[in-house]
Amino acid sequence: MPVSNEKLNALFAIPSKIAIVTGAASGIGKATAHLFAHAGAKLVIADIDIKAAQNVASDIITAGGEALAVAVDISEETQVQRLFKRLFDAYGGIDILVNNAAYRPKADFLEMSVETWDRMHDVNTRGTFLCMREAIKLMRIQGADRGGAIVNISTIGAAHPTIFNNTHYDSSKSAVNGMTRTAAAEFAGDGIRINAIMPGGVHTEGTMKMQDGNAVSTPKGPIMMPGRMLLGMASPLQLASAILFLASPASSFMTGHIMAVDGGYLVG
Ligand SMILES: NC(=O)c1ccc[n+]([C@@H]2O[C@H](COP(=O)([O-])OP(=O)(O)OC[C@H]3O[C@@H](n4cnc5c(N)ncnc54)[C@H](O)[C@@H]3O)[C@@H](O)[C@H]2O)c1
Repeated sequence: MPVSNEKLNALFAIPSKIAIVTGAASGIGKATAHLFAHAGAKLVIADIDIKAAQNVASDIITAGGEALAVAVDISEETQVQRLFKRLFDAYGGIDILVNNAAYRPKADFLEMSVETWDRMHDVNTRGTFLCMREAIKLMRIQGADRGGAIVNISTIGAAHPTIFNNTHYDSSKSAVNGMTRTAAAEFAGDGIRINAIMPGGVHTEGTMKMQDGNAVSTPKGPIMMPGRMLLGMASPLQLASAILFLASPASSFMTGHIMAVDGGYLVG
């Protein structure tokens, strides 16, 4: 059956869709916010770093898009509720949530404090849960005809060991994979699709911070073996385009899927 250019473009467009991207002040989240704005979405740039979030929002507005920066620590329930109130007051609903914000400091397994373990899970696991909970509540009120799409950003480390001193991080993201599958099954009847992406190594501001020469934070482990990343390191845009796919009508028959976007790491 022939497909018109119009139909092809519509598969990857999200015109006037209302989208929250957490951690959108930097790296993969920032690239996703810019790509979503090009694809027609109205954005909430949600980040703990409000100055950087405001810069991203103003760049989007200057380019002709719609964006609002909101300060939030996603691990705090009242702050997440305030974020969704700000979204509702500004746009009146939600279509897309990208759970991208994360805490990533490395820690020696045998020396790790309970506080470090807890902070990792408070941000990456509880924060993802809180944002999903508030988004799904709103999406259900809007009705199954409108539905919604949620994209959780996990890590390839949740599927295969990659970097040492990262057990707390991989644990927090493995929980995200589990939440993604179970919530997808639970809310499919409400027209809400929930998928996750497991990135391999990506050149971002956060990744650069790890190259500080410190014995614990500098990446070591299987992923650092020469040639192990078959396609090398990704750019943030290479991840953002996969996120747009999962948020757009092009993936309308996908839910509960944990998709590796890893430059071939899992088959290498
Ligand atoms: N970069 C990689 O190589 C890589 C690999 C695998 C997975 N990931 C995942 O991709 C996502 C983005 O990674 P990145 O490298 O672009 O990160 P980054 O460090 O460049 O940006 C993360 C953003 O999240 C924000 N943030 C941190 N804690 C927050 C909190 N509590 N509340 C709200 N915002 C908070 C930061 O201010 C920052 O703007 C993360 O979920 C990360 O775990 C990245």
